[in-house]
Amino acid sequence: MPTLELGILVSGGGSNLQAILDAVGAATLDARVKLVLSNLDGVGALSRAAAVGVPSAVCSHRNFGDRKSFETALADQLLAAGVTWVVLAGFMRILSPVFLRRFAGRVLNIHPALLPAFPGAHAQRQAWDYGAKVAGCTVHFVDEGVDTGPIIAQRSVPVLDEDTADTLAARILTQEHQLLPEVLRWLSQDRIVLDGNGGGRPRVLVRTP
Ligand code: GRF
Repeated sequence: MPTLELGILVSGGGSNLQAILDAVGAATLDARVKLVLSNLDGVGALSRAAAVGVPSAVCSHRNFGDRKSFETALADQLLAAGVTWVVLAGFMRILSPVFLRRFAGRVLNIHPALLPAFPGAHAQRQAWDYGAKVAGCTVHFVDEGVDTGPIIAQRSVPVLDEDTADTLAARILTQEHQLLPEVLRWLSQDRIVLDGNGGGRPRVLVRTP
């Protein structure tokens, strides 16, 4: 299998980006991070990329008149950097088909809830507010909906009586840091198969090595 050429889209602290960088650095993931792109300046993710000499850039949605031109610029930069797979790691913008068509079937997202429960923003708080007893995280392919794409893998955590929304989010985040590099490892080993499910909702199968 060729080495994965990753582009990572971020908007925040970048702890999930760090988990990927650490796995690449430790050679437990056969991938190269070709470009880290943030829609916000000054975020921790950019410092994390700089600390290990990974190219990064800011592409602010505020500098574009409309979503189409913003997404076109994002895709152009990723393709120019040689990216073949895109990972949304705490990227807080919704991507439309303008972007997704450029990386058809090659965009993954990490979401801090057990989808299809609690899509959208503040998912950990949604689960806590709802009184869920089990929470978790999901890595999925990105489709045109919000957190609706085919699920690749999930990890669950308990919700404890003494939890706050913040302690729950922290417990979920530790699982995110394990799950995302693991899924990328499967991808690098060509083990992830999107099954058409006879015309029904596509399902993801993970082949054994
Ligand atoms: C993570 O919980 C991710 O699932 C969510 O935003 C958070 C980003 O954290 N979409 P980080 O920037 O990777 O530290």
